[in-house]
Amino acid sequence: MDRFVIEGPTRLEGELEVGGAKNAVLPLMAAALLARGDSIIQNVPDLHDVRFFMTILEGLGATCSLVGGELRLGTAEAEGREASYDLVRKMRASIYVLGPLLAFQGEAFVSLPGGCAWGPRPVNLHLEGMAALGAEIALERGYIHARVPRGGLRGGRFRFEPVSVGGTCNVLMAAVLARGETVLENCAIEPEVTALAIGLRDAGAVIEGIGTPTLRIQGPVTLRPLQQTVIADRIEAGTFMAGVALAGGRVRLTGVDTVHLDPITAVLREMGCAITEEPGAITIAADGRPVATEIITRPYPGFPTDMQAQLMAVCAVADGTSFISEGIYADRFTHVAELQRLGADIRVDGARATIFGVPKLQGAPVMASDLRASAALVLAGVAAEGTTIVNRVYHIDRGYECIEERLASLGARIRRESV
Ligand code: EPU
Repeated sequence: MDRFVIEGPTRLEGELEVGGAKNAVLPLMAAALLARGDSIIQNVPDLHDVRFFMTILEGLGATCSLVGGELRLGTAEAEGREASYDLVRKMRASIYVLGPLLAFQGEAFVSLPGGCAWGPRPVNLHLEGMAALGAEIALERGYIHARVPRGGLRGGRFRFEPVSVGGTCNVLMAAVLARGETVLENCAIEPEVTALAIGLRDAGAVIEGIGTPTLRIQGPVTLRPLQQTVIADRIEAGTFMAGVALAGGRVRLTGVDTVHLDPITAVLREMGCAITEEPGAITIAADGRPVATEIITRPYPGFPTDMQAQLMAVCAVADGTSFISEGIYADRFTHVAELQRLGADIRVDGARATIFGVPKLQGAPVMASDLRASAALVLAGVAAEGTTIVNRVYHIDRGYECIEERLASLGARIRRESV
């Protein structure tokens, strides 16, 4: 198992290109199952989660290759209908095959994902949304068994409550092959959801309202294989920005969509960072302690829950007391105890954390508990005095490509060790 050894503190200086968004690639990969032929997706990051999703698609009979950021998915013989517990328990996003298998194969057996480290994370909306299209859904021995009714899926009306990224993507993928009009209300408008809708539309789907909370889909259509370029990862960009806010320095990030970064940029500006935007690039500079802030995570265009841990690391060294409330996942605070090991002064009360800023963090051994928590610990380690060892970095490899090499290119003293 690998770990990172980080010697701090160092400032971050230089330029980096941001990769394609993990959470945009995964639904596009599932959407390849909605057509027969070779889908080609560009700007694909070489992440563990992407490789893992490739094994799921291969298990369904697809051929997959990822070379130099180009992902080719051949579905000519993808006749499989099952995603096993062994796969789904390792990656919740495996649930994305449910909608395409149901709509294209007429039947799907997909394991229920179960909970995760920060709560139950239900998939009821995915199932209710598909039931609204006429799907017959049964839960059998831990598996979702979904079948199209006689005559196929038909258009329906469904409202997501609460807003769900995965639910919106999954039901949307099923709806494009349903007969008649489907109206989906209170849809997630995260850029990754919009990117999926655009990918489907470019492949022949008829979707109105893309980028808004109400999607109107007219079906059925015969989709062509996908041809898409993945949008930039706003969370990866935000993570490097948080690193500069925490450790100080100046970094220019290229390959970004600055509009997608607005919710993050607004908070970091309030915290005293100087941020300048150009088309496709953003530069952040920070010096001295950040200013304390108050954040509530919300669905896009609110502040993203996937940046909460990294921002908490910044708040840990802020001048003053900060407040962070989780509006999406009430229990997503597994990083708090580890940040405390680095000297952060944080109190959690329900879904709200109070962070009493300290002048400096101190290096220590810590344990990564999930993807974004790991990112927060790595950033904290770069800014902390002394040696920080981040164990269980496989979490971070799921969603950040070579983060240690990229941070090192900005001046961080970080190395990977296999233990
Ligand atoms: N929810 C339900 N029922 C459902 C689905 C969701 O009640 O059927 C609730 C959840 O419990 C949560 C809220 O709705 O309170 C939002 O969950 P959502 O469905 O939007 O989350 P997700 O699709 O499971 C995606 C990202 C997460 C990100 C969330 C929120 C992917 C693969 N995952 O998860 O990303 O935190 O949206 O933005 O896109 C990450 O990248 O680290 C990550 C966890």
